[in-house]
Order: sequence, then C-alpha cells, then structure tokens
Amino acid sequence: MTRISDQHSDQTTHFGFQTVPESEKAGMVHGVFSRVAGRYDLMNDLMSGGVHRLWKDAMMDWLNPRDGQKLLDVAGGTGDVSFRFLKRAPGAHATVLDMTEPMLIEGRKRAEAERLADRLDWVVGDAMALPFKDNSFDVYTISFGIRNVTRISDALKEAHRVLRPGGRLMVLEFSRIPNDLVQWIYDRYSFGVIPALGQMVTGDRASYQYLVESIRKFPDQDTFAAMIRAAGFAQVKYRNLTMGVAALHSGWKI
Ligand SMILES: C[S@@+](CC[C@H](N)C(=O)[O-])C[C@H]1O[C@@H](n2cnc3c(N)ncnc32)[C@H](O)[C@@H]1O
Repeated sequence: MTRISDQHSDQTTHFGFQTVPESEKAGMVHGVFSRVAGRYDLMNDLMSGGVHRLWKDAMMDWLNPRDGQKLLDVAGGTGDVSFRFLKRAPGAHATVLDMTEPMLIEGRKRAEAERLADRLDWVVGDAMALPFKDNSFDVYTISFGIRNVTRISDALKEAHRVLRPGGRLMVLEFSRIPNDLVQWIYDRYSFGVIPALGQMVTGDRASYQYLVESIRKFPDQDTFAAMIRAAGFAQVKYRNLTMGVAALHSGWKI
C-alpha cells in the first residue's frame, strides 16, 4: 500500500520517477501540457485506442448529469468531461479550470465547433487554491488531472470547500491493476510504446515518459479512497475500469 500522505517531509515530491522540490513540480507539469496541447486529444485516442472515451462515458453514467447543475471540471484541459456533461444535461453549466492555458485554448476551439461555448466558462487556475467561493458547485470532476497535482490532499480539500452540501466529487484516474501478469503486460506497453508514440506524434518523448511514470507513482484505489475520506467526503466508493487500468472514485459532501 502507498502511504496516505503524498507529501515528503523535506518538501520534495515526485515528477514521474524524479525527485524534485515541491516548488518546481507545477512548472514542470505546466511545461508538459503546454508542449503537447495541440496534439493532446489525438494522442489520447492513439495511446488508448479510443478507450479513454469509454472511461469518460462511464464517468457520466455514474454521475448522471442533470439540468440546472453547476459543474466544476478541474484540470479540465481541452474540455472532454465538460462537453459530455453538457450534452447529457442541456440545462447544465460547466466551468473548466486548468493551470495550462494552451490546453484551455484548444478546448475553447472545440467548444465553438460543438456549439457549446455559451454554457461554458474557462478559468486559468490551480486545483490547490481554487478561485471560487465556498459551496459554489453541485458537481466537481477531475479526470486524469489529480496525479499531476503537487499536493493531492490540498486539491481534495479545495474540492470539498467549493462543493455545496449534497454536492458530489468524481475522479477519473489511472490506477492499479490487481493482477501481476496483466500489470506486467501493461507495463511493457506503457514503457515500451507510449514514449515512442509521443515522440512520433508530438516530437516530445520526455512528456510521455513523464505520463507513464506518473501513473506508477499514483496511489492504489484503496489508498486514494482513504485520501478522499480524509478530505471530508462521505460514501466514498470506487469502480475499476478495464481491469483497474483506470478507476472512478466517487464521494459526497454532506
Ligand atoms: C492529462 S490532462 C487531463 C485533461 C482532461 N481532464 C482529460 O481528461 O482529458 C491533465 C491536466 O491537468 C492540468 N493540471 C495539472 N496540475 C494542475 C493543477 N494543480 N491545477 C489545475 N490544473 C492542473 C494540466 O494542465 C493538464 O491540462
């Protein structure tokens, strides 16, 4: 089991398999997503064979978006999760927050093309210090974002603060495969194929090396569920997707 605390006492943290000062991680993550923003959506489809779409659809199935709801999609990037939410609930509103503006710029272009722009706000900001009042949102989502955040516990506390009582948190993130053979095969694919594919498609091997390393550093399902409970959420549950390659975690603010 991974430790519940994601902080190191000497104020260092991990950036993939490297140990870096906490103060430097956000800048490094920003660099990764600034460099790949223009090819981010294409790479997601190529790397996962389109399966990330099914995972995001599964997130919507569990969330069950409803008209009138206000969604905050943190680390929302190019808007995939918000677009799905708004398509399922035409009377809902979404705010996409991300610290990497080039990702939001790509998302805005997509929103215009999909005629969703008038139901969306785009905010540059940090998951660990959200620029919103307490009790502002009905739903908080973070999809493939939380493992990049320097202090995960701080982001979860902020999620709890900005949700209204009765509001819901849902996290989609890569997770741990509870089968050694399948994990071995998946590791061969991740480390052998993804950085090379990243080099071919984006010209940036290092960013995709970071991606696969960061997946290995993220806590397993039960440890992460405990972190969500520690942030104040109730009824915390998770569902594995594709044998635990990814997982959905759900919690409620009561
Ligand atoms: C892998 S992308 C996920 C994008 C989108 N949610 C999706 O599922 O396709 C991760 C995003 O997290 C953002 N991010 C990382 N750390 C963040 C932080 N502390 N605050 C806000 N955004 C952050 C990055 O800028 C990047 O756009």
